[in-house]
Amino acid sequence: MVEFALPKNSKISKDGNVYEAADGATNVKVFNVYRWDPEELDADGKPKNPRIDRYEIDMDKCAPMVLDALIKMKDEMDATLTFRRSCREGICGSCAMNIDGTNTLACTKSIADVKGEVNIYPLPHMSVVKDLVPDMNHFYAQYESIQPWLKAESPAPSNAERLQSPEDREKLDGLYECILCACCSTSCPSYWWNPDRYLGPAILLHAYRWIIDSRDEATGDRLDDLEDPFKLYRCHTIMNCTKTCPKGLNPAKAIAEIKKLMVARQV
Ligand code: SF4
Ligand code: F3S
Ligand code: FES
Repeated sequence: MVEFALPKNSKISKDGNVYEAADGATNVKVFNVYRWDPEELDADGKPKNPRIDRYEIDMDKCAPMVLDALIKMKDEMDATLTFRRSCREGICGSCAMNIDGTNTLACTKSIADVKGEVNIYPLPHMSVVKDLVPDMNHFYAQYESIQPWLKAESPAPSNAERLQSPEDREKLDGLYECILCACCSTSCPSYWWNPDRYLGPAILLHAYRWIIDSRDEATGDRLDDLEDPFKLYRCHTIMNCTKTCPKGLNPAKAIAEIKKLMVARQV
């Protein structure tokens, strides 16, 4: 078993642990991190309430991104701290969390961009599996529901790929880059109130990505499937989704384009 030497004066308590920076550190940044473990039970055998732990990090010994600080906390202060990460360069989407009040990616969020203490919570309005890990099962089931693959009845050319013109390929720009991090959907009040019936901006952006693909032959079926008071029309143009997307995408525009197509096919 690995032994962790806690910094001097660190305190472990039920109200929130405090991990102090080592003596002599002059460039200290404070991180307040949401902690909840369903296996930590109270006297009645029920999961304990969440708590906020305070970590003081010596920034002279820490790399610049919030994910770097989380890894340092886990490696040097508390190995039970739990979060997802993989690529550490904004590609996999797994380190999405709420930092300084905004949903974003921990690996591309610079610590220097946060004035004062850094508050870190899981993505909002999602069930929490543990600490900063949200339960993504429902989100992925919604993704599957839009059938995110090319659907075509006509046979592909025998000796070539299904080709697109450069103009048609360009229509996928701003859509294919989505990494399914769910920052947008979990910032959307309409999704907070109706997550079971409204698809939310991330999934609708992907729906539009297939609707607009010149090679796909199921456009009518895809629009039929979205013609529903909840799946699509719960978007009330609140725009949090576009404001928060860490990849600079515009899911609100994709949703507006689907709505325009709905109108166009009725006239
Ligand atoms: Fe993440 Fe942006 Fe895709 Fe939404 S649109 S899932 S915020 S990359
Ligand atoms: Fe929500 Fe974005 Fe529409 S925040 S209401 S999906 S414009
Ligand atoms: Fe992959 Fe952050 S670790 S996006």
